[in-house]
Formats: sequence, structure tokens, C-alpha cells
Amino acid sequence: MADARKPGFAAFAAPSKGYLVLFCEEGVKFGPAARKALGPTGDLVERAAAADKFTGKSGSTLEIVAPAGLSVSRLVIAGVGKTGKFKSKDYVKLGGIARGKVPASVSDVTIFAELAGGAMKPDQAADLALGAVLRAYSFDLYKTKRKEGEDAPAKTQVTIGVSSVPAAKKAWEEREAVADGVVLARDLINEPANVLNPEEFARRCLPLKKLGVQVEVLDVPAMKKLGMNALLGVGQGSEFQSRTVIMRWNGGKKGQAPVSFIGKGVCFDTGGISIKPAAGMEDMKGDMAGAGCVVGLMHALAARKAKCNVIGAIGIVENMPDGRAQRPGDIVTSMSGQTIEIINTDAEGRLVLCDVLHYVNTKYKPKFMINLATLTGAIIVALGQEYAGMFSNDDKLCDRLEKAGQETMERVWRMPLGPEYDKQIDSKFADMKNTGGRWGGAITAAQLLARFVDKTPWAHLDIAGTALGSPQTDINKSWSSGWGVRLLNELVAEHYEK
Ligand code: BES
Ligand code: MN
Ligand code: ZN
Repeated sequence: MADARKPGFAAFAAPSKGYLVLFCEEGVKFGPAARKALGPTGDLVERAAAADKFTGKSGSTLEIVAPAGLSVSRLVIAGVGKTGKFKSKDYVKLGGIARGKVPASVSDVTIFAELAGGAMKPDQAADLALGAVLRAYSFDLYKTKRKEGEDAPAKTQVTIGVSSVPAAKKAWEEREAVADGVVLARDLINEPANVLNPEEFARRCLPLKKLGVQVEVLDVPAMKKLGMNALLGVGQGSEFQSRTVIMRWNGGKKGQAPVSFIGKGVCFDTGGISIKPAAGMEDMKGDMAGAGCVVGLMHALAARKAKCNVIGAIGIVENMPDGRAQRPGDIVTSMSGQTIEIINTDAEGRLVLCDVLHYVNTKYKPKFMINLATLTGAIIVALGQEYAGMFSNDDKLCDRLEKAGQETMERVWRMPLGPEYDKQIDSKFADMKNTGGRWGGAITAAQLLARFVDKTPWAHLDIAGTALGSPQTDINKSWSSGWGVRLLNELVAEHYEK
């Protein structure tokens, strides 16, 4: 949650209480600051390492309770193996690992940002802090009691030991913006749908104004006027009014075309009249993860004052069965003028996105459009939960996204598009239908979106597998990962701020 304590930075020194975490390379090698802090306790560590056959292999740990010669309650030595080729993502991961050694009940932990070769650079120490913060996240808003032995929400004060405090703090400023963006995305996605309905979701975008983001909310009459009937059709069975929220950050040169990010914001997806089976349906509170990521990303970019013009746009609806709900067989006219026959009301995400994509493309003429959506179960079948599916009309954009994915470990895998697949969504009664039959479900969903992007460079990221119930990693123990915020922040930083 947002109240997780912010990390502090302090010059290397043995702390007087709490936990001390030191990194150690293969061959039980410490850096100079760690050796100095250990002082005579170094002998104890050597004996303990030998007794435990601890050599500093990556992933191994040696823990000493109440070590003689130090006033800390526990000394944790985290093996990191050989660190020669360590990159940003490796420091982030180390921060997560180090933080993970500390139970929530511990009030203080000091982590030395140092490897055997010496102190980490300010950027690396800040990456370490980022990993520690993301690891400590948990969503406990609705827990009023705990089982015996269950830990309270993390209130641990984390201090990162560094060689230069001002330099580390400076480097942290940008990471903090990103950390807050990821936490915001995770919070939104974890919220249940009885709290985060479409109207409430739109309200939760308004605080971005404090960071200098222009926030515009389109209500139902405004969307009707624009002709966004594909989106509106999905929401028409809900007690809550649909919304589209446009967020604008103008950190770049005046008049420069913006980059744009578009998110699927289905606050709850029952499937509508084509109702889903009961098992696992509770996960569909997270069917707004694409939109949650866009909001988190806008926070990150604005908070770190990214030198880029950015549009974030999210279509927010609730997909419910009701007397007024959309039916299979209905035909809707999208904002672009193209008509869509509804075959399955559970294929709703593409209907929401097609109108928002068209709106952004025609109104803002963006440099590119990237949309994020928990769009299909089929992408989980294809790629599992490690890679998001990427569908695109632009090789350069794909290349950049792939690289940013490797840098952040939010990885994408390109999937095919083509006229053969496109044929699958031709309709007897309208310009297209909203499902393409049994095979290639993630691809035919993407083909529908492709019909609304024209020539603008575009990538669709199907995040159904990566955003929700994601495998637990060193930097995420939450059901919602906030996947995409770090990836897209990296993409912007690397290519669109020059
Ligand atoms: N929101 C779902 C996709 C989904 C499934 C997201 C599991 C996260 C986890 C989407 O709206 C959906 O229902 N897709 C259908 C499409 C089908 C009806 C053509 C699907 O994937 O089964
Ligand atoms: Mn659905
Ligand atoms: Zn859905």
C-alpha cells in the first residue's frame, strides 16, 4: 500500500539495531565498507560460513543471530555469486531479495549497497532501493484481523547504506516516481469491483492533476455525442456509468506529437449475457489492469517530469448481464463508423479499446499508440505468465519494446498478425464480428484492434497472463504485479526524451 515506508539513505556504518544485510560474492568476498563495519566480527562470519559451507553462491544466505561484536539483532549475508555483468535489473532484483530476508515485524533494516568490488554507484543503489520497496508492497486495506503469527503490514524502516548520500538521494528521486507509479497501479488493480466501479475509477485519476497532468473525464453523454457506441454497448448493462479518461502530460517540446498509451478498464467482467463460469470469476476485478497500468505510468512520468508529451487514455466500463445489457447478435456502430456484430458479449475488451484507440488516433495524431489489455485467456495458453503477447504493425516499436522488456524483466513476445487471421472476423451482417472462432483467440482479438489504428505505429500488449495472479517474483508478492509501468517508463526514457 502507499503507506509502506520510504527508504532512507545513510553513509556506510554498522547500525545500532535491527537487521543488517550485506552482500557477499563467491568465495565469501565482501566489499571494504562491509569489512570495516564487521570489524572483528569478520572472524565470526568466516567461521560461520565455513561451518555452514556458505561460499556466497547466488541465492544462498548465511544468517547470524545476535552476532558478537555488533549491536544488530541479526546479520544477514546474501550471496550474489559473480557480479561482473550486473545490470540495472540485477540491482533491482538484489533489493527485492535483501528486503525479502526481513520479516514484517522487524522495525529497522540496513542494507549495504556494496559488492565485493566496492560501493554501488548511485543509480545502482537507487535500483536496489526500488527493488526493496516493490518487494515490501502488500495490499491489506481490508484486513481488520490477523491470524496468530501472521505478520502485520510492513512498517519496517529500510536504510540503504551508500558512499554518497546526496548522490544516492538524487538518483532515488526518479526511481521513487516509478515505485509510486507501480504501487498506484497495483492498488487500483487489487481493489474489489464494489469499490472501484467505473465512476470511482475515473475519480481516482483526478489526483494526477497535482503532478501537472491534465485530466479530462468523458461521461456517457459526451461519449454518445462522439459516437463511441462500441464502448457504451459493453457498459449498458451496468448500474454504473461508463467513462473515458484522458490524461495529458506535456513535458516535451510544445507542438511535438505525443506518444500515447491506451488501457482496457473493465472494472468487472462477468462476461455479460455470455456469462462466464463461476470458478475464478473473482479475478475479473482485475480486468482493468491495462488501465491501472496507464494511470500508474502517467504518475511515474509526471512525477519524474519526463521530457516528453504523453497521452494516457483509458476506457472504463463494467460488463454485466442485465435487462438492458447488450445481446449476442446486436450490431453496434463504433466511433470510426465501422460496424461490429456482437457474437459473444464476453469479448468486450476489444469493443472498449477500439473506440478509445480511434479517439486518440484522430484527436491527437500520436507518434505511436501502445495499448495494454487483459484481453484474452488465449494469450495465457500461448505464453503463460512470463511474457505478455505483443501484436504490432511496426518493427521498430517492437524492437524497442523487446529491449525495454529485457531491461526491466517485463518481457514481451511478438505474435503474428495477417490477412488470413483478419478474415476470421469478417461478419455476415456487419463490417466485422467481435470473435473469430476457436483458434488463435489472442490473434483474432488483436486483428479487431488493428482495424482501428490506421497507419499509426501501434502495439497491443495482451497482459492477461502477466498482470494478474502473476508468479511471485523477488520484487512482487502481490496478486497484481503492476506489470507494464516499469517497461513503458523505460521505453519513454530510452527513446522519447531526447
Ligand atoms: N477479460 C477476459 C480475458 C481474461 C481471461 C483476462 C483470464 C484475464 C484472465 C476477456 O474479456 C475475455 O473474456 N476473453 C474471452 C474472449 C472470448 C469470449 C472470445 C476469452 O479469452 O475467453
Ligand atoms: Mn470478457
Ligand atoms: Zn474482459
